[in-house]
Amino acid sequence: MNFSNPFSLHIVFLSMLSFLSLNSHAADPFLLNQVCANNTFSPNSIYQSNLNSLLSSISSNATQNLEFYNTTSGQNTSEPVYGLYDCRGNVTIQVCRTCEVATVKEIKNKCSREKIVVIWYDECLLRYSNRSFFSTVDEKPRFWLLNRQNFTDDKFELFNKLLNMTMIDLAREISSNVPIGKKKFGTKEVIISAFQILYYIVQYTPNLNSTGCNSCLLAAINLLSWCCSGKLGCRIVFPSCNIRYQFHPFYRMAATAPTPSPEL
Ligand SMILES: *[C@@H]1O[C@H](CO)[C@@H](O)[C@H](O)[C@H]1NC(C)=O
Ligand SMILES: *[C@@H]1O[C@H](CO)[C@@H](O)[C@H](O)[C@H]1NC(C)=O
Ligand SMILES: *[C@@H]1O[C@H](CO)[C@@H](O)[C@H](O)[C@H]1NC(C)=O
Ligand SMILES: *[C@@H]1O[C@H](CO)[C@@H](O)[C@H](O)[C@H]1NC(C)=O
Ligand SMILES: *[C@@H]1O[C@H](CO)[C@@H](O)[C@H](O)[C@H]1NC(C)=O
Ligand SMILES: *[C@@H]1O[C@H](CO)[C@@H](O)[C@H](O)[C@H]1NC(C)=O
Ligand SMILES: *[C@@H]1O[C@H](CO)[C@@H](O)[C@H](O)[C@H]1NC(C)=O
Ligand SMILES: *[C@@H]1O[C@H](CO)[C@@H](O)[C@H](O)[C@H]1NC(C)=O
Ligand SMILES: *[C@@H]1O[C@H](CO)[C@@H](O)[C@H](O)[C@H]1NC(C)=O
Repeated sequence: MNFSNPFSLHIVFLSMLSFLSLNSHAADPFLLNQVCANNTFSPNSIYQSNLNSLLSSISSNATQNLEFYNTTSGQNTSEPVYGLYDCRGNVTIQVCRTCEVATVKEIKNKCSREKIVVIWYDECLLRYSNRSFFSTVDEKPRFWLLNRQNFTDDKFELFNKLLNMTMIDLAREISSNVPIGKKKFGTKEVIISAFQILYYIVQYTPNLNSTGCNSCLLAAINLLSWCCSGKLGCRIVFPSCNIRYQFHPFYRMAATAPTPSPEL
């Protein structure tokens, strides 16, 4: 991680009483968090002009059915801007497009003067910086969202173990199988009991290699026991990767049957 980046010094904590449900906002992209680093550029600077073309390139590429896109604007100028967007695994292309258009709009509203920005929607992510970050594992700024309800007491420890184990497996699986530049996410459903299916997803930005991916995801999984132990739902979000689980479906599902839980 690059600590000269002012961004990595920010930590954002955010928690919510009830876990966000995807079903409640089918139409509009849902803003989760945004961080605009405290270093501004001046109007009419080279940075401003490079950023403008970066954002318009992102908007136009978002309308071209791309779910992931990274670009550098003003590569040969004194102040290049590096940017990427990435949609959540398995959203439809329409949702992805709408989301990217929303992020660009939001940035123009709220973070119009900052050099370094990350904005997270439920459906997508947009970030840019004056530093090339495409292949870097960035774990900060970060935040999490959780459902405060606990899993039943007698199964608490088993539940934590199961989560840790299945998340680690899924992280290993997706970080080893996908060539660089391809969409990087994995989902899994695990039957916990006759009435409960646990759904989870892990995802990272496609520029990371498998080592970077696995280390980012493991860092997120490690936080689970600290922030979300035994909780019915939790999401941990970094700039470079994120993980999430909950007891109702929040992504489009594969046709395969859920795996029975080995432990509960
Ligand atoms: C940004 O930095 C300036 C100068 O150090 C400071 O006065 C200001 O309060 C900071 N703003 C935020 C939001 O941290
Ligand atoms: C993205 O947008 C830029 C500028 O609008 C364009 O030149 C480029 O070809 C686009 N890339 C893709 C992959 O469509
Ligand atoms: C996109 O990211 C890759 C690293 O994964 C980098 O090699 C490439 O130059 C980037 N593309 C642009 C247009 O910045
Ligand atoms: C930047 O400069 C290099 C070498 O001078 C050149 O090959 C490249 O095409 C230039 N890129 C842009 C975007 O102008
Ligand atoms: C990015 O901008 C900040 C603030 O102006 C500066 O301190 C830093 O050196 C810049 N980083 C790079 C890689 O240019
Ligand atoms: C993977 O990317 C990291 C940077 O995130 C880099 O340090 C490492 O050398 C890369 N590993 C391989 C095998 O390319
Ligand atoms: C969940 O469990 C923790 C630790 O045992 C406890 O402190 C907390 O009050 C419980 N929360 C609820 C909503 O029951
Ligand atoms: C998760 O599993 C790994 C590998 O088995 C282990 O090293 C780690 O301590 C476990 N974490 C928790 C919180 O149980
Ligand atoms: C993504 O959604 C599609 C459509 O429901 C499904 O066929 C596919 O298996 C899903 N992929 C994953 C990895 O969940």
